[in-house]
Amino acid sequence: MEAVVSKSPSVCEECRGRYYRLSTTADRALARVCSCMATCAHCGGQGYVLTVREETFSQKVGPRRYEAVTPCICRVLRSRVEAFNHVGIPGVLARAGFDNYLPFHEAHDAAKQAATRFAFGYRRGAPSRGFIISGPVGSGKTHLLTAALAHLVLEVGIHARYLEISLLFADIRRGFQEGKSGGEIIGPLSEVDVLAIDELGRGRGSPFEMETLDELIARRYNAGRTTLFATNYSLEPERKSRAHPRSGYRSTAEEAALPRDTELLRDRVGERIYSRLCEMCEFVSLPPETPDHRRTRQELHPRASKPRAVGH
Ligand SMILES: Nc1ncnc2c1ncn2[C@@H]1O[C@H](COP(=O)(O)OP(=O)(O)OP(=O)(O)O)[C@@H](O)[C@H]1O
Ligand SMILES: [Mg+2]
Ligand SMILES: [Zn+2]
Ligand SMILES: [Zn+2]
Repeated sequence: MEAVVSKSPSVCEECRGRYYRLSTTADRALARVCSCMATCAHCGGQGYVLTVREETFSQKVGPRRYEAVTPCICRVLRSRVEAFNHVGIPGVLARAGFDNYLPFHEAHDAAKQAATRFAFGYRRGAPSRGFIISGPVGSGKTHLLTAALAHLVLEVGIHARYLEISLLFADIRRGFQEGKSGGEIIGPLSEVDVLAIDELGRGRGSPFEMETLDELIARRYNAGRTTLFATNYSLEPERKSRAHPRSGYRSTAEEAALPRDTELLRDRVGERIYSRLCEMCEFVSLPPETPDHRRTRQELHPRASKPRAVGH
């Protein structure tokens, strides 16, 4: 991890040595620099420090040492905090991290490993495969997406955006009324280092929605940029066979009693997008029986009426 500041032995209780704090507003997650960094011990508030560098400009002269002005760690921290505040992470998941994603179900463990491997392995400028996580309601998909984004933005200094697909469609429709083209909204989203698209497959599947999605994913795919996804739909390429194991015959009543197959993402987004996803992402599936953590929490804490953000 490229930590901004080496953690000091006397760790601040407010930020636990991270030098930033996370909070929730009505609609999004916000970060701010912790008060323990109010006066920077490294630059005295200048924002820059002098560092000694060594470089060989000519073989004849050999290596030369020189002093250069570089941004102080407090300045780097401030710009990462500012960048985090533009990611658009939902407020309720402001504190969702890898440390507070718990293995309530064995599938959680595998999903967390895939997301952690991605987030800790990502290198700016190097091609990096993302992940797509599929699972039932409340199984922790958005938690893992946002944990990966928070790590990349705050600990590594990567530019990222979180996007719920239906809000993107709504934004573009609103933009049309204000005279903006769809491209004006899609353009910046195509260029961000890492984009997380949540609720993939949701929506009416209208030609407008399919074209918008197709353009966004194709642009990112062509530019080799990393995209993460979460979806409630199955990642299976084909519907599982429903043939009866013994006779191949099943009565209408038996058929009706069977659990419905989860709808396939491939059917929802179409062949072109599905094909690109196969190349762009590692597929991670939380099985249909993965518990809904919102309900579990409600059963354990029935009096807690408001959704509780996890974490410290
Ligand atoms: N394994 C877990 N450890 C800790 N908290 C969890 C875990 N799984 C889910 N949660 C918490 O449960 C709540 C719901 O999780 P989340 O929003 O990620 O679910 P989801 O799979 O995205 O659901 P949906 O399909 O409805 O969008 C969040 O507050 C999240 O922090
Ligand atoms: Mg979600
Ligand atoms: Zn602090
Ligand atoms: Zn400083």
